[in-house]
Amino acid sequence: MSKIFVDACLGKETPYTPVWMMRQAGRYLPEYMAVRAEAGNFLNLCHAPEKACEVTLQPVDIVGVDAAILFSDILVIPDEMGMDLSFVKGEGPKFSDPLETQADLDRLIGGEEAASKLTYVYDTIKLIKEQLAEDKALIGFTGAPWTLATYMIEGQGTKTYNICKKMMYSNPELLHNILAKVTEVVKLYMEKQIEAGIDVVQIFDSWASAIEPGKYDEFSWKYMVEIADYLKSKYPDTPIIMFPKGIPAFIEGGLVYGNFDVFGVDWGTPMAMAKEHLGDKYVLQGNMEPCRLYSKEATTACVEAIQDVMGGKRHIFNLGHGILPDVPVENAKHFVSECQRVSGKK
Ligand code: CP3
Repeated sequence: MSKIFVDACLGKETPYTPVWMMRQAGRYLPEYMAVRAEAGNFLNLCHAPEKACEVTLQPVDIVGVDAAILFSDILVIPDEMGMDLSFVKGEGPKFSDPLETQADLDRLIGGEEAASKLTYVYDTIKLIKEQLAEDKALIGFTGAPWTLATYMIEGQGTKTYNICKKMMYSNPELLHNILAKVTEVVKLYMEKQIEAGIDVVQIFDSWASAIEPGKYDEFSWKYMVEIADYLKSKYPDTPIIMFPKGIPAFIEGGLVYGNFDVFGVDWGTPMAMAKEHLGDKYVLQGNMEPCRLYSKEATTACVEAIQDVMGGKRHIFNLGHGILPDVPVENAKHFVSECQRVSGKK
């Protein structure tokens, strides 16, 4: 049975425009909070395939999206490379041992050895595939090497990125060594996710906008192109979605090379601009501002406006970044049903 989401990623005509939401499995769902409470904490939940499978499937059942996204986190990669990850309540992710020197990097496990430690992710994927309806797709994901490196170097989320940017301008060789080592793990990690059963790959470059336009290719994009080339050489039929957050300046500059199928448009980039510069090369995904979900009227107006621009062609509906924890579930359902209404789902 063909999956409408996979067909849309590959640019094929579909009976309506598929929809999913970044961060769709999460705290806005009371059902998620219940399973997380059972697991004890967020990382335990990532490490428990049955529970991770259950929360992956929740938004498909409750909100009606066309694709599930694997429940995990981008930071399990550096965690399994040997860094000490924890999630501090109210503060987000923390590494107690951020990378400062080449010796710190050399201590980390790389390549096949690191990718092989993520067995709980592959086990989760296999369980999901047993339970997911045949017409729905499963999206696997990774963080972009740059986005992962920001956490590995800063030790936590940051507003200024000053520590990793200090490295970018004063010791670029070390930053490239970090990015190259992470890239090797990501390639094998995504290959193993595909082997375990994911239908589509999404690469999150959530902190793309922290890099000045002239340096973006060197420190982020080219590594993602390398990952895509590797995966496409082995799995040409598995679509790859690239989501670089906050880079309208690069889009206008024509950053369009790379073996990706879908370009995830963030909410700060006008869809018409993305269509003009990228629409011939990529299927476009996006891009409602996630805070519009607080109002049903604001949601409907935006969904209609996006439909007017894209016309149901070479498009996947999504938010322009992740859904926030205090959005009413009813409003998320409204978003999904409005996307289906305007694109003609019977
Ligand atoms: O539904 C899904 O999208 C699947 C699961 C998923 C999570 N994280 C679960 C999660 C995915 C795809 C991610 C990706 C991720 N993780 C990104 C890239 C996506 C983006 O939004 O830009 C980033 C930057 C991270 C790192 C991370 N993980 C942060 C900064 C945080 C804390 C922020 C927050 O929302 O509290 C996390 C924790 C996290 N990852 C949660 C979830 C559901 C919240 C944990 C909890 O309290 O239950």
